[in-house]
Amino acid sequence: MNPVIKIQELNHYYQEAGRKKQILFGVNLEINPQEVVILTGASGSGKTTLLTLIGCLRSVQEGSLKVLEHELKGASEVERMKLRQRIGYIFQHFNLLDFMTVLQNVMLSLELQKNFTPAEAKRKSTEILQAVGMGKHLNAYPRDLSGGQKQRVAIARALVHRPPLILADEPTSALDRHTGQEVVELMTALAKEQGSAVLIVTHDSRIFNITNRIVRMEDGQLDLDYQGRLSVALPTLTDKQLTDVIPKINILKFQPGEIVFRQGDLADKFYILMEGEVDVIQEDPGSEPKLLRKLGPNSYFGEVGLLQQGKRTATVKAADSTPAKAIVFERTDFQKMMLNSEMTSALLNYQAIKIEQREAKTRPSVYQQLPLANKELQILEDYCRQTSRSKIDVLSELVNQLPTQIKDSE
Ligand SMILES: Nc1ncnc2c1ncn2[C@@H]1O[C@H](COP(=O)(O)OP(=O)(O)OP(=O)(O)O)[C@@H](O)[C@H]1O
Ligand SMILES: [Mg+2]
Repeated sequence: MNPVIKIQELNHYYQEAGRKKQILFGVNLEINPQEVVILTGASGSGKTTLLTLIGCLRSVQEGSLKVLEHELKGASEVERMKLRQRIGYIFQHFNLLDFMTVLQNVMLSLELQKNFTPAEAKRKSTEILQAVGMGKHLNAYPRDLSGGQKQRVAIARALVHRPPLILADEPTSALDRHTGQEVVELMTALAKEQGSAVLIVTHDSRIFNITNRIVRMEDGQLDLDYQGRLSVALPTLTDKQLTDVIPKINILKFQPGEIVFRQGDLADKFYILMEGEVDVIQEDPGSEPKLLRKLGPNSYFGEVGLLQQGKRTATVKAADSTPAKAIVFERTDFQKMMLNSEMTSALLNYQAIKIEQREAKTRPSVYQQLPLANKELQILEDYCRQTSRSKIDVLSELVNQLPTQIKDSE
């Protein structure tokens, strides 16, 4: 099965005040037939730019971009036009033609295809409008419709010719919460029925639950593999738990030397370092600040204060030499993750205790160290059975995988 979209090392530049400004940096992405993918990321990160490149609305400057098995780098305007007819587009502001009825708006999309008779176009358009719940409004004009109704028409128009690829840019942003969710669910259900792949650009985390494939754009870079990074930092999370938490994360950046939090602050976030280094510093009154440890990529911090429901027990700041970037969880999302993964909870609690007992020199047996409850033991036993390994072996490995801070502090 060939991918519907295959992007390799795609760069893109705009001219700004006579200067060339790079917007996309080495983007790689593959989307398979029938896949539903959400593309999210901060405003200005380059999402629309990427979507318009995929949609053949801009020409490719650098790198490879294949859509429906056609290379767009170097493609002619005629080739791009032909491809555009095989793609369904849904935009934030509906883009319906005001002087045409609902039915005419949808039929237009089929008439552009040329291989439909007017009678066929009418029948197919009526059918899909009925499927999106607009059967009673065939002869209405867009100005007489609500936002949700307009978006349903836009969906019918984008899907009526059964395109193998559907692109949607912020399809819910002009709609209220309930309507937004409803139209996106409708769109993905129809797309599934037709076997189309769907790529949706959205900021709207309320629709993240329609798929488990969410890619993030960060300053023109795509998908820095958050799932992989989280699973390295927190090996006890299952794949399901990882896909559940990924939509909740945020990415924060810190300048060299910038304080992430101070000892004594209220604990409200949990951090997993992606890039750079941070220093963990003890700042007790009456004594010199003391560097407790340095943490590198894939280490986590901030859990001690959260687990104790209290204040930061140390100051953390980005190393002076380099900026730092971290995956960040808000307290409530961290707490939910702890509830959903008792193994992770056991390990983090264990670590927090170890940090508190920094002076303890010797390690008791692994079994005594890990406060495992029945359910956790069950998970562990299942895991051991699946992997045909002994409990002590797995536990020792987990303990040894605990971030370097434990080892350093002992
Ligand atoms: N035609 C253009 N000419 C010059 N710069 C542009 C052009 N279009 C976009 N940009 C710039 O490129 C960057 C990426 O823009 P883009 O519209 O792709 O972001 P986005 O992720 O879709 O943002 P949003 O979430 O706000 O829609 C921004 O800095 C924007 O100002
Ligand atoms: Mg945009």
